[in-house]
Amino acid sequence: MTDYRAIVQELPKAELHIHIEGSLEPDMMFDLAQRNRVSLPYDNVEAVRQAYDFTCLEDFLGLYYAGMQVLREESDFHDLADAYFRRAEADHVTHIEYFFDPQAHLDRGVPIGTIMGGLMRATREARERGIEVSIILCFLRHLTEREAFQALEKTAEYHTEFIAVGLDSSEVGNPPSKFERVFAAARDLGFKLVAHAGEEGPPEYVWEALDVLGVDRIDHGNRALEDDALVARLRRDQVPLTVCPLSNLKLAVVDSLSAHPIKRMLDHGLLATVNSDDPAYFGGYVNDNYVRTARALDLTETELAILAENSFAAAFLGDATAGR
Ligand code: HPA
Ligand code: ZN
Repeated sequence: MTDYRAIVQELPKAELHIHIEGSLEPDMMFDLAQRNRVSLPYDNVEAVRQAYDFTCLEDFLGLYYAGMQVLREESDFHDLADAYFRRAEADHVTHIEYFFDPQAHLDRGVPIGTIMGGLMRATREARERGIEVSIILCFLRHLTEREAFQALEKTAEYHTEFIAVGLDSSEVGNPPSKFERVFAAARDLGFKLVAHAGEEGPPEYVWEALDVLGVDRIDHGNRALEDDALVARLRRDQVPLTVCPLSNLKLAVVDSLSAHPIKRMLDHGLLATVNSDDPAYFGGYVNDNYVRTARALDLTETELAILAENSFAAAFLGDATAGR
């Protein structure tokens, strides 16, 4: 039997689709709740794990936003990011571009300096240990475009820390085109652009992310495979797809890992990558995503190496240690 774990551990990897708030493990959630006197609707850590029984993105997002209420102080944001970086380093990840959701913290009264102070300190320390780390500011798409503009303004002091802006949260009913102007403004400010599209939303949302927003990468992109012309476009332009197999399984985007489209994406010549999305919620960090998918789809060693190489080809390399 192929020792996928050893093969994957050996490969250097970039992780490009990780929501830092989605790396909040139940143990830390409980510790921070106590430290900050935030009450949680769970009696113990096991009860939290049992609650992670989602059947769609919307169910997950409810728990995700509830869980992050425990993040209050600068040290909370530091400890959260620090724990994720160390976990990624143990998985032989050498380059990270991580998302954070400023609106989800600003809107509950956490000052931007508290959030950024903690994230930047952990980011700096990780860079000092030798890994490349960049930050991507995500807009919450269930909120308005005006609120996205406000988020851009409220984070202005820290813009040099971000490599890109992204778009996450509830996809269906919130098409990329809703954010056309704020993405244009972000481009003018020099940001790279990414957007979640085609996770639950239709192929049209992937087209919009490409043609209306002008993104450099698509986050997820699973449903692009329903549209041959879109597949041809993604192949022609080698648009990176940051795919998240265990997330797709947990959120019922796929019925089983053996039905996961990542091998078909490679067969189509697409620039697909493997990522963990919200590892504390979806049952695995990046190596678990590679290994469990490889087992389910009988991936070859060459396919695993291509996926790892793709992760660097898809990365915003360059001056990643200095933000932008
Ligand atoms: N999809 C959309 N929004 C999100 C996700 C996701 O998988 N994780 C955190 N915010
Ligand atoms: Zn995501």
